[in-house]
Amino acid sequence: MENKEIELEFSIKSGAPEKQRTACVVVGVFESRKLSGPAIDIDRASDGYLSEILRGGDMDGRAGSTLLLHRVPNILADRVLLVGLGKEREFHEKAYRDAIACAVRTLRDTGSMDATITLSEIPVRKRDVNWNIEQAVISAHEALYRFVTMKSKPDETRRPLKRVTFAVSRRGELKLGELGLARGLAIAHGIDLAKNLGNTPSNICTPEYLADEAKKLAKTYGFGCEILDQAACEKLGMGAFLSVGKGSDKPPRFIILRHNGGAKGEKPIVLVGKAVTFDAGGISLKPPAEMDEMNYDMSGGGALFGAFRAIGELGLPLNVVGLVPSCENLPDAHANKPGDIVTSMSGQTIEVLNTDAEGRLLLCDALTYAERFEPDAVVDLATLTGACVIALGAHPSALYANHDPLAREIEHAADQAWDRVWRMPLWDDYQEQLKSSLADMANIGGRPAGSITAACFLSRFARKYHWAHLDIAGTAYKGGREKTSTGRPVSLLVHILLNRAQK
Ligand code: BES
Ligand code: MN
Ligand code: ZN
Repeated sequence: MENKEIELEFSIKSGAPEKQRTACVVVGVFESRKLSGPAIDIDRASDGYLSEILRGGDMDGRAGSTLLLHRVPNILADRVLLVGLGKEREFHEKAYRDAIACAVRTLRDTGSMDATITLSEIPVRKRDVNWNIEQAVISAHEALYRFVTMKSKPDETRRPLKRVTFAVSRRGELKLGELGLARGLAIAHGIDLAKNLGNTPSNICTPEYLADEAKKLAKTYGFGCEILDQAACEKLGMGAFLSVGKGSDKPPRFIILRHNGGAKGEKPIVLVGKAVTFDAGGISLKPPAEMDEMNYDMSGGGALFGAFRAIGELGLPLNVVGLVPSCENLPDAHANKPGDIVTSMSGQTIEVLNTDAEGRLLLCDALTYAERFEPDAVVDLATLTGACVIALGAHPSALYANHDPLAREIEHAADQAWDRVWRMPLWDDYQEQLKSSLADMANIGGRPAGSITAACFLSRFARKYHWAHLDIAGTAYKGGREKTSTGRPVSLLVHILLNRAQK
């Protein structure tokens, strides 16, 4: 299903802001009333028009404030939009991205069809032009995102914003800027896909729907694609994964995507994404409040698809395998019951003490399946635990790894992508909490350290390779009235892969 929104076109340019022939030129103002570089240029060309307005108290540069000016003397653009940047000393990554988003939303709401945004020229500490442009494109694209597929009458914008030009301060920066532009666009498209899949309700976005989506991606970008149905998974002995979907009449799917951009024989990186299309908890039924949000329990798989879209668009010279086990977790006569014991593909047996701890049951079989690719590294991503949301909230994804260099590699990529992670311990001490008197292990470790014991559970299936786990329960979507998928951690995944492609 297409989410029909007008797509913004982006370009970059160097040149004097006062000479831009466009519907609107956007310049930044710091608190309190300090003009950014391009704003000074406009001020000079207009004989101090901006300074005069600011002196009058119309705008003080506070973050999120805007002021639209018409007929500024000696300026070729129809309008000048001032965007508040907050305190100059605090103009870091978040403030930068917020300012771009604020500019783009204001442009949309005030009917400019094209614009030149000079905020991209403003230095952000420790970041280069490549970063500034990439993040500007992602932030601008995200600011206009709306999920309209399920609306009977999408609210139309009268004169939608169609073209945005980001300024760079010197001609010599154009080349690096173009690189950031291409990456930013690919990442934005990947984020778009992840958001659309996440926001599509579970009565439509079923395991089969996700399998079809994988086939579409494969066709567009030339990926290999294989879909394993229930019988094929049974043959492989995926008893943990299959036990979860038993309570649903939607058949499970195990989705495999392959991008063979690297040399033949080069070991692949394997990504694994949890895709429970709805998690009611099963017989250990969840309470009703916010249960609707468990529509987002396929976000690991959704982000994996998003990353594949981006690497397809960028044609990365790298071998990547994507594994997406997908099913629905519902209570039913056939469903797992607390105390049931299942046998995983690895042969290890698991006592299902809580049927709501289902994500690890999908992932453990996918991790075993990953062995056959002789991976250089395996990274799984999953909306795995509510405990992770309690521990870290919505800002970083929790990172676990059984190999320090892999953890550092991911931390570095997360910083570059501004899609942050926070490393958590995977100490043996926690493993005890998973003891079962009847099976090899239990699927829950009690209330303390819930995100950690979930990761410890997974680590028992990832002993044969370098592995990292991202608990994205707090980062993959926003709840409440502004409910939406965030598309995280597509940007992080793409940066991990970009870095590997450059080695
Ligand atoms: N999908 C949930 C985790 C989740 C909870 C994600 C809240 C986002 C927000 C997962 O399957 C789950 O239910 N986990 C249980 C595990 C518990 C029973 C050990 C949880 O976190 O409550
Ligand atoms: Mn659950
Ligand atoms: Zn779940």
